[in-house]
Amino acid sequence: MQTILHVSDIHAGHPFRPDLAELVHLEANELNPDVVVVSGDLVQHEYVDQYQRARRWLDGFKQPLIVIPGNHDVPFRNPIDRFLRPMEKFRRYIEPDPNPFFYQGDLAVLGLNSTRSFTIKGGKLGEQELKVVRERMKPLPPQVCRVITAHHHFAPPPGFGSQSVIADAKHAIHVMEECDVDLILSGHMHVAYIGNTLDFYPMSKRGIIIVQSGTTTSARGKQREKGKNSFNVIRVHERHISITHHLYNSERKRFLPMSRHLFPRRLPGEYYLRLEETAATEAATSVMEKQVQVEVQQKIEAKNQAKIPTVAASE
Ligand SMILES: [Fe+2]
Ligand SMILES: [Fe+2]
Repeated sequence: MQTILHVSDIHAGHPFRPDLAELVHLEANELNPDVVVVSGDLVQHEYVDQYQRARRWLDGFKQPLIVIPGNHDVPFRNPIDRFLRPMEKFRRYIEPDPNPFFYQGDLAVLGLNSTRSFTIKGGKLGEQELKVVRERMKPLPPQVCRVITAHHHFAPPPGFGSQSVIADAKHAIHVMEECDVDLILSGHMHVAYIGNTLDFYPMSKRGIIIVQSGTTTSARGKQREKGKNSFNVIRVHERHISITHHLYNSERKRFLPMSRHLFPRRLPGEYYLRLEETAATEAATSVMEKQVQVEVQQKIEAKNQAKIPTVAASE
């Protein structure tokens, strides 16, 4: 089994939540994922101190990172920077590689830049990015789970006001299907959604699993996650993939699991969920998850205990 922690929309400017940013490190240390994916919008505005704050937060992870830019990471206030040097600060402080790639065991994650200078909120994957998809994904052995991350969404969450999606979404999905991509990880909407491209593009061949994360560390959640924060834990098992959506619980001061989706792996042979096999694997995973929950709780309590001022012995 390999694990991805998927966080998004950090927005390291007002209204950033440093307490949640710190908690995510704690969760990640106990979960110990193979890779942490950060699907864009590292800053709120293009000020250097926000990029630096985001950088410090990224440095707090002990795991490999795949970090991609979102529309907020492109300068907005300075049109010269926006059109001539759109990625300069992001590359200097956050990630110099425009297409970061993680490949270990049976898991490959490719990051793509979907931001564009000529649109404020929208995005697109052009031929340049799709060429990288083909180059990276096509040569992989069939048992490798192929994951793409791009900030902008390929399918709107159900009931979301705006039904607009990334430009040329159908073409990009078509290319990804050709390359047997299993999952697309996105952000941008500030609300989690787990589904399949078939819900929106029924004519596509087999569909790709869609995983969107809400904002993990900013008070800018939308729709059912208004004022809330979330992340996803993706586990790639031998025959299936599980995606667990975690939501921050302000009473328990913890991210807690809210829902779990199970999908079959795209492997040679018939495509369906082997229920008995999946149930056995999930039972084993639950034992491990319980252990992670307990350890995070113990660390939080130990930390809170350390913060309580002690009375001096002489008083
Ligand atoms: Fe965002
Ligand atoms: Fe965004």
